[in-house]
Amino acid sequence: MFGKVYLFILNILRSSKLFTYFLWGIKIDKYCHTTFWDLTSLVIKKELSIIKEEKYLDMGCGQFAILGQFYKKRNVNSKIVSVDIYDDLVENSFNNSKINKNDIQIIQSNLFDNVNEKFDLISFNPPYVPQKKDDKVKYTKIRYSANDGTETMSLFLGKAKNFLSNDGKIILGVNSYYVDKEKCLSLIKEYGYDIKKITKILLNSSIAFTIQKSTK
Ligand SMILES: C[S@@+](CC[C@H](N)C(=O)[O-])C[C@H]1O[C@@H](n2cnc3c(N)ncnc32)[C@H](O)[C@@H]1O
Repeated sequence: MFGKVYLFILNILRSSKLFTYFLWGIKIDKYCHTTFWDLTSLVIKKELSIIKEEKYLDMGCGQFAILGQFYKKRNVNSKIVSVDIYDDLVENSFNNSKINKNDIQIIQSNLFDNVNEKFDLISFNPPYVPQKKDDKVKYTKIRYSANDGTETMSLFLGKAKNFLSNDGKIILGVNSYYVDKEKCLSLIKEYGYDIKKITKILLNSSIAFTIQKSTK
């Protein structure tokens, strides 16, 4: 019962332009789908609130580049590149960043395919829901990632270290309801990173792992 009420309220809040403006400070005009942010965006936001790096790559920026814009407002001199695989979401993010007067670069790219520089900070709230065979939804990669939910984050972890500056860090957010924490920790280790910090929020099942290239 509590779970159903929680989800009902959450779905109203994350589809609300007014609440999104209150929480993120970002005005919304047009949108491609009705989920404006999720529980994982919130833990990454919490961590971004205390970081002041110069060059930030917002991987999988979604329909508003909400993390990139949030960071830009707090760090006006930073350089931000926001990336998504879907052209529609890139276009909507670009238009939305103009409405909000945030000067960030937004490009279409399958992970790092069209990224040509290194960053002090990279964040990713990847798709991590295990794909059921009969699910045919628009923008599948917003949510689903193969049978166990880890395909996209594994591909990301394999490539991301080549796009980090010296001492650069990654914030990887995952909802532990779909992929458990131990599985994430073992993937992070397997791909050659050390855990620097784990960020959580009360009543939120998502976790943000701050990680760096392993020195071992
Ligand atoms: C869970 S949403 C996160 C959206 C937004 N960053 C947020 O935190 O609210 C995941 C995003 O990653 C994008 N994505 C999935 N696979 C990708 C890939 N291979 N390369 C780039 N973006 C990808 C999806 O299109 C989607 O916008």
